[in-house]
Amino acid sequence: MKPRKTGRGPATEPRASARGHTPRASGKRPTTTTSTTTTTLVELVVNGAKVEVPVEATDRLLDVLRGPLGLTGTKEGCGAGECGACTVLVDGRAVNACLYPAREIEGRAVTTIEGLGEPSGALSDVQQAFVERGAIQCGFCSPGMILAATALLAEHPEPTDEQIRDGLVGNLCRCTGYVQIVEAVRTAAARRAGGGTR
Ligand code: FES
Ligand code: FES
Repeated sequence: MKPRKTGRGPATEPRASARGHTPRASGKRPTTTTSTTTTTLVELVVNGAKVEVPVEATDRLLDVLRGPLGLTGTKEGCGAGECGACTVLVDGRAVNACLYPAREIEGRAVTTIEGLGEPSGALSDVQQAFVERGAIQCGFCSPGMILAATALLAEHPEPTDEQIRDGLVGNLCRCTGYVQIVEAVRTAAARRAGGGTR
């Protein structure tokens, strides 16, 4: 799979979007200013739970997830939108958390790898397929890869191999050679379609 930069940053639509979220007027959120930084409290939903986190002007979504929220399943590889290790879902769309300004996450719903499984602790179908197909070796790429695959299957429930490869083109894996990863996504899709393993 040929890597290419996908630039999965924030959605470019206006913040007062069809999702029903209207940005708060500036000054309505508590803001603390020091000589060098400005901290704002940002409210969002993470893995189904409403949270409020302090965000500094230069913070990325990745910093907030791995820092105050303690969700270290989201990895940092390149920090530049090249590797996909930091992929999370924002309102169901795969984004690179290293490119997403934390202040723009206000009112959004974020899903990380920690929130993908069932409440019982069972793995999601995509996670399970990755395990069964040997699509995880060192595991560094796996959270981002699995979230990208989850977004891919939401968009293409019965993807062709080309759609699978295209959907994961922004996620690099140094270990598996991608064959098992494509097989895993194919397996999860087949099971959702009721066709069992293929
Ligand atoms: S760490 Fe975000 S794309 Fe590499
Ligand atoms: S399993 Fe090691 S980088 Fe993908």
